[in-house]
Amino acid sequence: MHRATTDSGRPGEGTQRASWWRDATRKGVARIVAAVFPADLRLFARALCSGPQAVGAACPSSRHLADYMAAQAVAASKGYIVELGAGTGVVTASLLAHGVAPERLIVVEKSALLAAHLRQRFPEVAILEGDAAELVSLLGWRAQRVSTVVSSLPLKSLPKSTVDQIGSALDAILPRGATFIQFTYSLRCRAIDWAQEITCLHSRTIWRNVPPARVNVFAWGNG
Ligand SMILES: C[S@@+](CC[C@H](N)C(=O)[O-])C[C@H]1O[C@@H](n2cnc3c(N)ncnc32)[C@H](O)[C@@H]1O
Repeated sequence: MHRATTDSGRPGEGTQRASWWRDATRKGVARIVAAVFPADLRLFARALCSGPQAVGAACPSSRHLADYMAAQAVAASKGYIVELGAGTGVVTASLLAHGVAPERLIVVEKSALLAAHLRQRFPEVAILEGDAAELVSLLGWRAQRVSTVVSSLPLKSLPKSTVDQIGSALDAILPRGATFIQFTYSLRCRAIDWAQEITCLHSRTIWRNVPPARVNVFAWGNG
């Protein structure tokens, strides 16, 4: 009588070899993905998959964009700097590298996944997991000591009601003339569709970003 045999003739060896080969391929692919796509990019992709509208960007901001935003914030700032929608923390890192003391920086991020990453990456910075629309309650007593807000929020893809709430929250915390920095992928845009009055002080296109983006620096109120 004949039994089912493998190449070597021993039963079951073919199945073992196939599963070893599958594992090795899976590990190899995982290693290649890890080498080609840095951890931040993979984290960003996970956040993007779970909430594309809230993330509102195809990939993290470039260091060039982050450095320009940070330089504007540092030049303007006296009190707390609040960063909205920090994502993977490219702008946060740049703010710290530009000399902002960690205790002067408050970061607000809605995604639990990204907030956990930010806490791990910047243990010395206050990372508040929550919605920027709830900024006043998130900040508590610190709300009245904010001089500058740096925002990577995707204002063009968030629901209008959320954007309006964020505008009202900023109105409640920012003194007249305070600096508000926002980037946008809409290269011609120098305005934000808010009821609140804001004045664009200056604006620059950052070409070395994917896609290129415009950083607008506003004075809250009419300066
Ligand atoms: C364009 S991405 C940030 C890009 C970031 N500069 C980076 O390089 O990773 C926008 C971020 O805003 C966050 N976000 C969106 N809506 C928010 C809200 N209402 N409150 C706080 N964060 C929000 C998203 O979770 C996302 O991390």
